[in-house]
Amino acid sequence: MDWGMANRLAQLIQSDGRCLFLPVDHGYFQGPTRKLEEPRKTIEPLMPYADALFITRGVLRSSVDPHNTRPIILRVSGGTSMVGADLANEGVITCIDEVLRLNASAMGISIFVGTSYEKESLLNLSKLVDEGEKYGVPVMAVTAVGREMEKRDARYLALASRIAAELGARVVKTYWCENFERVVKGCPVPVVMAGGPQTETELEVFKFVHDGMQKGAIGVNLGRNIWQNEHPVAMIQAIRAIIHEDATPAKAQKLYDSVKNQ
Ligand code: 5RP
Repeated sequence: MDWGMANRLAQLIQSDGRCLFLPVDHGYFQGPTRKLEEPRKTIEPLMPYADALFITRGVLRSSVDPHNTRPIILRVSGGTSMVGADLANEGVITCIDEVLRLNASAMGISIFVGTSYEKESLLNLSKLVDEGEKYGVPVMAVTAVGREMEKRDARYLALASRIAAELGARVVKTYWCENFERVVKGCPVPVVMAGGPQTETELEVFKFVHDGMQKGAIGVNLGRNIWQNEHPVAMIQAIRAIIHEDATPAKAQKLYDSVKNQ
């Protein structure tokens, strides 16, 4: 692996081989998502605990101080919205010159396996990998499920994750599911877990993050269950403890309770 690629991956994946990516990219198709209405206010208190931010160029430039930031994974797919005809019909919205100008450590792109736009999104990924490899910029593929949450099972997620790896993604972001080991085993590149919509309790999040880590994930790319929580700083610290300190769900809960009461 070339030095630039290795260096960028090392910025993202920490020396223990694990990572906590904080996605704040949701506005690119959801608009001013709850608790991300003013991105700077959401991002600033969480930044010290994130290993990287997953973000669009617009929010990066407008809402993140270039002197005080974490490594950046630039969201480079989009062009659709919640109210449009089809969320899966994404294109590449940011060119490689911008990625390099913004000093990003990686690019992130969604793929929509099993939709009418499967082929387009997979070709977008492949072309992005060609560009990224030329300049030493890793690509994180996001196995998107759109509104079809029932797709979050091991069979589908293993299929989508493996295809992403086959097409050259250096990291795959997918969802935790029952039998998550099937997803990880079938994917020859590192896997990180997204959180999905906010769960009812914090413990549910701690449990699935812990389970996924035990089953081979290297970390998370987890947004709403952190910053939509009533105590986001407590939440990110508790999840960080599971990832980087092998905390159990019970220990993470204890940490969450103690930080939220400070
Ligand atoms: C949005 C994304 C998000 O980055 C990803 O879904 C993780 O966020 P969350 O934990 O809120 O699901 O790709 O399209």
